[in-house]
Parts: sequence; structure tokens; C-alpha cells
Amino acid sequence: MKDTMTIVNNRTNESYEFDILDPTRGPSVVDISSFYAKTGMFTYDPGYTSTASCTSDITFIDGAKGELRYRGIEIEKLANKHSYLDVCYLLLNSELPNKEQSEDFDLELRHRSFLHEGLMNLFRAFPSNAHPMATLSSATSALSSFYYDHLDIKNEAEYQEMARRIIAKIPTIAAFAYRHSIGAPFIQPDIDRSFTENFLYMLRAYPGGKMHRNINGEDHIREIEIKALDTIFTLHADHEQNASTTTVRNVASTGAHPYVAISAGISALWGRAHGGANESVIAQLKMIGSVENVDKFIERAKDPNDEFRLMGFGHRVYKNFDPRAKALKALQDQLKNELQLDSKLMQIASRIEQIALNDEYFIQRKLYPNIDFYSGVILTALKIPTSMFTPIFVIGRTVGWITQWIEFKKDPKSKIARPRQLYIGK
Ligand code: CMC
Repeated sequence: MKDTMTIVNNRTNESYEFDILDPTRGPSVVDISSFYAKTGMFTYDPGYTSTASCTSDITFIDGAKGELRYRGIEIEKLANKHSYLDVCYLLLNSELPNKEQSEDFDLELRHRSFLHEGLMNLFRAFPSNAHPMATLSSATSALSSFYYDHLDIKNEAEYQEMARRIIAKIPTIAAFAYRHSIGAPFIQPDIDRSFTENFLYMLRAYPGGKMHRNINGEDHIREIEIKALDTIFTLHADHEQNASTTTVRNVASTGAHPYVAISAGISALWGRAHGGANESVIAQLKMIGSVENVDKFIERAKDPNDEFRLMGFGHRVYKNFDPRAKALKALQDQLKNELQLDSKLMQIASRIEQIALNDEYFIQRKLYPNIDFYSGVILTALKIPTSMFTPIFVIGRTVGWITQWIEFKKDPKSKIARPRQLYIGK
């Protein structure tokens, strides 16, 4: 017999029964899909704080424990022992690749990283000071015009090709968007470089593919930089039904082209309450200016009459710690030692962290540093331009969006997203 929940309408004394669904992990879910049909009423849940919008077997988060898993595997293990591309393969195929699969996947992505020449005109149409996120979102949408949109739902190869293509091309689009924003010539992908190294190369190289050599005659892309960025991509790869992923699923539900759905996800991510926070963290640290000013800004963050919020703090789901932030804190400490970094921004950030973690306001509300608090500082240390922080989040998250898009398409229960409202107008 199924477990059910009975809801009593105290106005009429009528009662209604709803099935309780059990997940493989996490809290149970009440199936209210028949709520309107049974009761003639809607449910009200602004910001979806209590609503599960789909079933999924991709990513699991336990916010109370600070746990995150992709396809059942702990994020710590993936970040420490696997490459970002292996994580992409895992998300798309539900299992980690063997050596041969890993090499084939890597090679295929290298080959798919080039953009159609026709797209170049689009980059040039943007003003020279355009934010790379605006260009990235538009160019991704434009990509839909170059590829077919009627995927055969039963043809796994078509889905995989569509997914691999977008994962491979997003770093190139992001790098081109940046080069355009600084008026620098575009650098084509280098087929001999790995996914993450190639992205750094496209950001930094001179025309003809030349790199600045450092004093030892080495390329300016260091192994430690590639490893750090690869880890950042892995930590951003998926995060179940967050705002941008929900946007991607909602667009998918209308039958629009997959790349248009990804473009919508990019736009949703840009906001500072979501992925845009990593750029805002740095802007805020610069505004605070010195360690001595930190207390003043903490007081502002606590003042209910002040709109100021500490960027990089708080999370809808994590009420203990953000495991991604924990992994990045370890990476930051490692970089600090290996690159001998101790910038003013790092000092301000660590003072904020120290105060906030011991302050009643933050403790009571369970506000901890999130992934964006540390990623901004690390990316600054890696000399990544600030305007590229959120595009870097996009590069990492594209695999999550497209995997969720595929899951949505394959789910026979998927319906067009069409919430209702509590009308309070005339
Ligand atoms: N600084 C100061 N107070 C805060 C902060 C903050 N960063 N975040 C939440 N609060 C307070 C908020 O004022 C409220 O207090 P009260 O109960 O007295 O009204 C309480 O904490 C609950 O906040 P909320 O806005 O109801 O929480 P939410 O779950 O709706 O919002 C959030 C989550 C991430 C949007 C929010 O914490 C925030 O704006 N943080 C700063 C932006 C940020 O770092 N975003 C990145 C999130 S992680 C990357 C990603 O996955 O997108």
C-alpha cells in the first residue's frame, strides 16, 4: 500500500489524499500534481522553496550535511581524482569513462571546439566594451541556426553529438567574447592542447599562437593553473534544479532548440544572486578596500534597512557548508603556498570569512561562504580577467544544463512548464 498525506480543508471539512513518493536519497516528496483537479485550488510557493519540479538521477545534494554527488559519486572524489572531461563523460553517460573512452571523448571535443566562420560576423557586431556574458549568451543562441533542431528522441548518438558539440564550443565562444571585449584578435583553438589548457591559451595567446615565455622559457600556462581551473570546472558542472537549470528545463519544455535553452540558462546565470556572484565578490572586496573596513561592511550586511549583502555568502540549499566552497578553500590554500600569493584581496576575504563565521547573525541564518566566495579570489590569483569569472561558471555548467535537457526530453512525464498565480489585481 502506498503512503499518503491527507490534507484537510478547514473551511469545508473536506479531506484529500496525496501520494508520498520516496526518493533513493533525501526527503520524501508529496505528489500534488492532482491538487487542482481534486481541490479546485492551486498551491502557492514563491521561489519554489518547497517544490520539486521533476524527477532526476543526475545530481544529489544534502544541504544539511553539505553533501554533493554527481551520478552518486562524491564531489570531493571527483574534484581530487578525476579530470573535468571525465566528469562531463560521467554526467552524460552515468558512469566514468575507461582510459580509451576518456581519450576518445577528449579527442572528439578538441575536434569540435572550432566555430563556424559565419559566427565571426556576430562577434564583430557587439560594442567593444560588451560584457562577455552578453556576447556568450547571444552567440550560443546563434549557434542554434547552424545545427538541426529536430532530434530523434530514440537516437542516443544524436543527443550525444549535440551535447558534445556545445560543451566543446562554449570555451571558444567565451574566449572570443573576451578577446572582442578587449579589441584583441581571435585565437583559434589549438588541437594539441587539452580542454582546460586550450581555454587559457585562447584567452592569453598572441596572434600566430605565440605565448609569452617566462624566465625559464616555459609557456605562461602553468600546470598548477590548468589543474586549478579544471577543478573549478568540475565543481561547477551541475547543481540539480538551480535557477539557470530550471530555466533550461522550462525552455526545453516548449520544444525550443537545445542551444537556445542553453543560451537562456546563460542569461539566468548572469545575475548576481546566482553565477554573477563570483564577479560581484571581487567588486565588493575592492570596494571594501582594506582589512580595517571589513567590520563596517559586516554591520551593513546585518542591517535589515540596508540592501547591502555579503556577496559569496548564503545558499538556498546549503545550510551547513557548501562542499564546493570547502574544496575551493583547500585549493586556495594550496595556491597560496605554491604561488606564494598573499594579495590584499585575499587578506580582506579571509577577514570577512573569519568574522562572519563567528557572528550570531550569520550563524543563526546558516550563512556560510559559498562557491563564488572562493572562486573569485582564486580566479583573480590565476590572473583571469574579472569579466570572465561568470563565463568560466558557464563553461563548467554547460554539461550540467545539457544533461538536464536530455533527461527532461527523455522523461515521459515531462510537460510544458506553466505555473499558475494568486491573482490580486482589479
Ligand atoms: N548577506 C547578508 N544577509 C544575507 C545574505 C548575505 N549574503 N544572504 C542571505 N541573507 C539573510 C537575508 O537577509 C535573510 O535574513 P532575514 O531572515 O533576517 O530576512 C536570510 O539571510 C535568508 O535569506 P534569503 O534571501 O531568504 O535566502 P535565499 O535562499 O532566498 O537566497 C541567496 C539565497 C544565495 C540568493 C542569498 O543568500 C544571497 O543573495 N547571497 C549573496 C549572493 C551569492 O553569493 N550568490 C551565489 C549563490 S552560490 C552560486 C550558485 O549556485 O548560484
